[in-house]
Amino acid sequence: MGERKMDRSLSIRTTGIREWQSGEVHYNRYEPTPYAALDRLFQNYNMGQDARVVDFGCGRGRVAFYIHKRFGIPVTGIEVNDKTYEEAISNKTAYRAKAKHIKAPIRFEYGHAEDYQVKSTDNRFYFFNPFSIKIFRKVVGNILESVRENPRSVDLIIYYPTAQYKQFLKKDTPFELINKVRIPKALDKKEKFLIYRLRQEDIDSNTG
Ligand SMILES: C[S@@+](CC[C@H](N)C(=O)[O-])C[C@H]1O[C@@H](n2cnc3c(N)ncnc32)[C@H](O)[C@@H]1O
Repeated sequence: MGERKMDRSLSIRTTGIREWQSGEVHYNRYEPTPYAALDRLFQNYNMGQDARVVDFGCGRGRVAFYIHKRFGIPVTGIEVNDKTYEEAISNKTAYRAKAKHIKAPIRFEYGHAEDYQVKSTDNRFYFFNPFSIKIFRKVVGNILESVRENPRSVDLIIYYPTAQYKQFLKKDTPFELINKVRIPKALDKKEKFLIYRLRQEDIDSNTG
């Protein structure tokens, strides 16, 4: 199914790109994860029913709606661009008019990912190239602080991983790469998902 058709089936509008005004160096532009990539991800990665997802830099909310509809689990999206955030909220109104039966909450917060207070129940964190390595370090630091306070297993799901993100996770964090999901016929090598996991049993010895 095409992108617009998939959007229509969820009653949302998420296609297109939004660039920042010139001069923005840390925050990347809006562009949605392709639906075909999400289909491929979930053919190869089982999130489980206890998953509580946060999409850092959620844009118009495509990933949040897709996951909420498909798995019926709680999802939170954080977005710092005010226009894009408003679009996510309009999408939510239209989506919820049809998806009333799904009990799990779907929430959007306007703000900086680096300031988001990670909840003790959040355990799956999604990133599609949202910001610079400097911001990513801060966000991952917040996640690690949260798991030290409330030990639990957590996954980072990274679409279109940059060399800087990969190097940081490998060298400076206890996260372990557990899965690689490639997109068939992708022309760009970065068009893939990397899943990193921190297991509860590894928390005390490695994160302090
Ligand atoms: C490449 S888009 C990904 C959108 C969505 N996650 C998806 O996969 O469909 C990245 C988004 O991150 C947002 N963003 C950039 N820096 C951010 C920050 N510091 N806090 C929250 N959102 C941010 C951008 O405005 C943009 O909408």
